[in-house]
Amino acid sequence: MTVDQSRWTAIDEYFSDQLHGDDPALEAALAASDEAGLPQINVAPNQGKLLMLLALMTGAKRVLEVGTLGGYSTIWLARGIPAGGHVDTLEIDAEHAAVAGRNLREAGLQDRVEVHVGRASETLEDFVRREVEPYDLVFLDADKASLPDYLEAALRLSRPGTVIVADNVVRRGEVINAETTDPNVIGVRRYMDELRDNPRLESTAIQTVGSKGWDGLAITVVKG
Ligand code: SAH
Ligand code: DHB
Ligand code: MG
Repeated sequence: MTVDQSRWTAIDEYFSDQLHGDDPALEAALAASDEAGLPQINVAPNQGKLLMLLALMTGAKRVLEVGTLGGYSTIWLARGIPAGGHVDTLEIDAEHAAVAGRNLREAGLQDRVEVHVGRASETLEDFVRREVEPYDLVFLDADKASLPDYLEAALRLSRPGTVIVADNVVRRGEVINAETTDPNVIGVRRYMDELRDNPRLESTAIQTVGSKGWDGLAITVVKG
């Protein structure tokens, strides 16, 4: 038996068909993102649904996402919060943000999501300065080089019990290359060091294979 990308993709399709059903809003969001020429680096459907489930499991009302792209993961996150909840999602690229805004409107979620255009570090600094209410769930999925900075900001916007998820922490295995010169991998490795060294944090990381290849997620809860 060969285990390869086509098998990983087929199994993702099987799980999605079995457990997610047809989802016109998400399919339309991906089609519109493709149409606009956005890169296909959104989370896989089962990873998106995991985000929704994490929001449901934690009872999240306030969600922070760093890295919107076309709003695919944003739609999943927004579906996991109750009416009256709120998602702040941060995107540097105005074109990506415009596509996301349209996709969120089409999905009927515009009332509970705000897309903030700009460098995430600056938007986060603004949130800290304005002392916004702490977030219940944070999804870090923008440039990986800045992950340690995003973690620091996320912690200033957290409370005990806040869950922080970081995407793409395996990078096709490069994460264990201590000699790497790739700034994204260096960012992931520094993020892992922070998770290890900060006594306020309890974390693990999971490798994933599937329609999006070989990668992984780090999951953290902020302790009291
Ligand atoms: N979360 C999305 C995928 C995000 S892809 C999904 O799964 O559907 C990463 C996004 O982060 C891209 O749209 C990119 O433009 C954005 N990004 C990269 N650097 C950024 C920065 N410094 N500040 C804010 N957004 C950034
Ligand atoms: C890339 C970014 C992502 O967030 C992702 O899930 C996959 C790939 C990238 O920048 O290549
Ligand atoms: Mg990602």
